[in-house]
Amino acid sequence: MSIYIFLGPPGSGKGTQAKILANKLRIPHIAMGDILREEVRRKTSLGIKIEKILAEGKLVPDSVTGEVARVRLSLPDCGQGFIFDGFPRTQLQAETLEDILKSQGRKVDKVIYFSILLKAALERLSLRRSCRGCGAVYHLKYNPPKHSGKCDACGGDLYLRHDDEEDVIKNRFEVFLSETKPLIEYYKNRDIVIQVDASKSIEDVTKEIFQALNV
Ligand code: AP5
Repeated sequence: MSIYIFLGPPGSGKGTQAKILANKLRIPHIAMGDILREEVRRKTSLGIKIEKILAEGKLVPDSVTGEVARVRLSLPDCGQGFIFDGFPRTQLQAETLEDILKSQGRKVDKVIYFSILLKAALERLSLRRSCRGCGAVYHLKYNPPKHSGKCDACGGDLYLRHDDEEDVIKNRFEVFLSETKPLIEYYKNRDIVIQVDASKSIEDVTKEIFQALNV
């Protein structure tokens, strides 16, 4: 069983590394941000409620993310473990996750903390492009698509996320520092935190994670 939490500021590379590790371990990569953006894209009643919150880089209420997590983690593909990217982000979310897992007789194995400075995160996010079709993520400098504006995997159009404007990125970073960073202490008390230097190259961060997890 492998239950991993990826925790770190915006642009620290959580999504990029979660995809690589999930692929290696053949377990699902669950990205709370992707699930919430999909609700917005489909204009569901939840999506309409949270659209402004996402655009401003604030946190969606704990009651909403808790329910999303509960439903997602009950699906059979999570049976052998999963990587949760972007959840929990508050103390209450951490407690909710613990309750969900406890009811399934499981617990978090490791928390990977991606540490990075705001300046690097800003550069990464302003040049990030995401695919409208399959959600693949590129970086115009560090991980560019083969054909400008098009996804290598599915040929879909690439776009800049609404919340990747400088002011919103700064706000998201502040929210991370005030709401989410304290969780590191919470998990450190359980001795399950692995801190990685997320400012290194994609390949070097992957190496660091694989070594730390012994995979
Ligand atoms: P979410 O989508 O989770 O955004 P985030 O946490 O801010 O993280 P990002 O997706 O921006 O960055 P990342 O760390 O995954 O980096 P990536 O790998 O893409 O959440 C969005 C919003 O949803 C939140 O603001 C909030 O409103 C809401 N939300 C989500 N979860 C919530 C929760 N639990 N509670 C309440 N609200 C919630 O990499 C970034 C770029 O850098 C890419 O271009 C990539 O190619 C490149 N890159 C990656 N690694 C490297 C590297 N090592 N070197 C160079 N470039 C790299």
